[in-house]
Amino acid sequence: MKVTKMILVLFAVTTIFMVGCTAKKQTVTEESLGLRTTDLYSEGSDTIGDKTDYIKQAAGQSQMIQRSFENAPPMIPHSVDGMLPITIDNNSCVGCHTPDVAKSLNATPVPKSHFTDFRPDTSLSNSGKIEKEGKSVDNTSDFKTIVKVEQQLVGGRYNCSACHTPQSVSSLPVENMFEADFRTKNSNNRSNLIDNINEGVDTIK
Ligand code: HEC
Ligand code: HEC
Repeated sequence: MKVTKMILVLFAVTTIFMVGCTAKKQTVTEESLGLRTTDLYSEGSDTIGDKTDYIKQAAGQSQMIQRSFENAPPMIPHSVDGMLPITIDNNSCVGCHTPDVAKSLNATPVPKSHFTDFRPDTSLSNSGKIEKEGKSVDNTSDFKTIVKVEQQLVGGRYNCSACHTPQSVSSLPVENMFEADFRTKNSNNRSNLIDNINEGVDTIK
């Protein structure tokens, strides 16, 4: 009895598989691949994307942009004309965002996290090699990071535009449907990373 049942099931599965194989395959033409609606082989004027259109309002006149998610680096809501690129001799961002002056200019002060070094306790030799306690090391990922509060901006935070970017107003081919969950009332316009950076982390002493 059992064997007959098995044979029947096997037969049914094989039949379904064979029917599946002979069913007509759905194809997509090369011309219609991707988000563009024009032929892949021609670059017509209607293929060009939206023009980049950066916010033109000067600092002090723009409207802040809501954070994308809790503790996301805030977007730059004002024009950065003449401020980029940031160089070793010229970083106008700090001129307005340094905590001492920011409040009087109505700019958000650079947060405490940017004055805190989270990197492993290593140093750089004269020949450019990473060293730990005098020994050359290739990989620092196994070392415990240190949390060192500095009096000045930490080097890794100097190049503001590596993380904070000006925004362009354009229409998106695919809309972003992401909605962030903000856990506290004002975390959509302020950050508190320095207070909760170790949340959920089992800190090794
Ligand atoms: C002349 C002063 C000034 C300079 C220079 C300046 N900012 Fe600003 N920034 C402001 C002010 C004021 C605001 C508040 C919004 C506004 O009024 O435009 C602001 C807002 C911001 C914000 C949004 C903060 C938030 O809490 O959402 C970021 C990020 C920012 N600036 C980054 C930068 C970066 C990066 C540079 C350098 C490329 C820079 N700013 C240069 C004055 C300045
Ligand atoms: C390595 C990435 C990185 C760099 C570089 C960086 N930031 Fe940030 N910034 C962040 C992130 C992430 C946050 C939000 C979490 C936090 O507070 O650290 C933030 C937050 C801020 C805020 C909002 C503070 C608040 O209280 O809401 C300001 C203003 C800011 N940064 C300005 C700057 C300026 C000016 C520079 C350059 C001197 C800079 N940042 C460099 C990643 C960066």
